[in-house]
Amino acid sequence: MKENEVNKWLLEVEHPAKGDKNVVELGMVEKIEIGEDSVCVTLAFSKHRDPLAEYLIGSTKATIIRNAPAGTKVEVKTTIKDEAPKKKPGLDLGEEELANVKHIIGIASGKGGVGKSTVSVNLAVALARLGYKVGLADADVYGPSVPKMTATEGEMPDAIQEGEKEVILPMEKYGVKWMSIGYFARPEQALIWRGPMACNALKQMILQVRWGELDFLLIDMPPGTGDIHISLVHDIPMKGAVIVSTPQDVALADVEKGVNMFRNEGVNKPIFGLVENMAWFTPAEHPEEKYYLFGKDGGLRMAEKYGIPLLGQIPIVQSIREGGDNGEPAALSSRPDGLAFIALAEKLAESLK
Ligand SMILES: Nc1ncnc2c1ncn2[C@@H]1O[C@H](COP(=O)(O)OP(=O)(O)OP(=O)(O)O)[C@@H](O)[C@H]1O
Ligand SMILES: [Mg+2]
Repeated sequence: MKENEVNKWLLEVEHPAKGDKNVVELGMVEKIEIGEDSVCVTLAFSKHRDPLAEYLIGSTKATIIRNAPAGTKVEVKTTIKDEAPKKKPGLDLGEEELANVKHIIGIASGKGGVGKSTVSVNLAVALARLGYKVGLADADVYGPSVPKMTATEGEMPDAIQEGEKEVILPMEKYGVKWMSIGYFARPEQALIWRGPMACNALKQMILQVRWGELDFLLIDMPPGTGDIHISLVHDIPMKGAVIVSTPQDVALADVEKGVNMFRNEGVNKPIFGLVENMAWFTPAEHPEEKYYLFGKDGGLRMAEKYGIPLLGQIPIVQSIREGGDNGEPAALSSRPDGLAFIALAEKLAESLK
């Protein structure tokens, strides 16, 4: 390995917030040290803390690992340019941005595609309509939904410098504060992140955000019950969780996985309840009709089985999907589907009193 070889690899590491210029072009590669079977790259950040620091460190590391001979030890260090405030490199994420948040609630499911993001976004909007102060962090690094579901795609949250620290300001729309990795990274970039990098980027997205005073901070968890989830539940001071499921019997096993993730020894967080999504189908032209496509009362049976309350039932209706697709959550409306989310929000808020 030669220094210029490593330098060439680093041309692949692009900064998504700087017109996709790479770290070499941006003059961020301060030093490349090559040992017998090791590479150490030092990235220089300017005085202002870069909200994507952790992302760039991860991408740099991944790029070198991909290109270097197998077994090479790879290290990425950081330094701050513009000497002035001497800061220690790396991130020192605390929990102070969460200090004024009353309830941090994970919205989880055992499997994907059950409508977790749809429920999270609409629940956030419904809680805001009830007068609560609400934030939502989209913790799905590989498939963020919030920018699309709120029609804030392509926007970029601001960051402010406060003494030694830089904090990210959440997006605000529909009376809710939103944050998503989707504002910073393109999906194809996130896909190359390995577990630990994804976890770090996620934590930064939650702990470095100026949430301010909130009654509820909802965390839209990624699908499944893997390492990312365990790390999230461990590092973010969640009060407990809400589980989303569809009513089929086959979904039972998945609900169990979701429940166990929080009831696990060492985690021991309460489950506030189950949301049965797609509980019945109502055709747009016959709003009074209910068709139980997946059977009736599946959600109720699940909730009973795990000893958790059934917080709400949300029908399958076209307007919910359309609301997700065009960024105008159904919960903004006073149609029956909008009111179903309001009822859910009331019940959740009540159960946390
Ligand atoms: N109650 C509903 N009525 C109609 N469509 C719905 C409903 N719930 C979810 N959908 C649609 O189903 C699809 C999947 O929903 P969503 O993205 O919320 O699921 P998810 O559980 O977050 O998925 P993932 O596991 O990929 O994160 C979306 O197109 C959404 O609009
Ligand atoms: Mg989702």
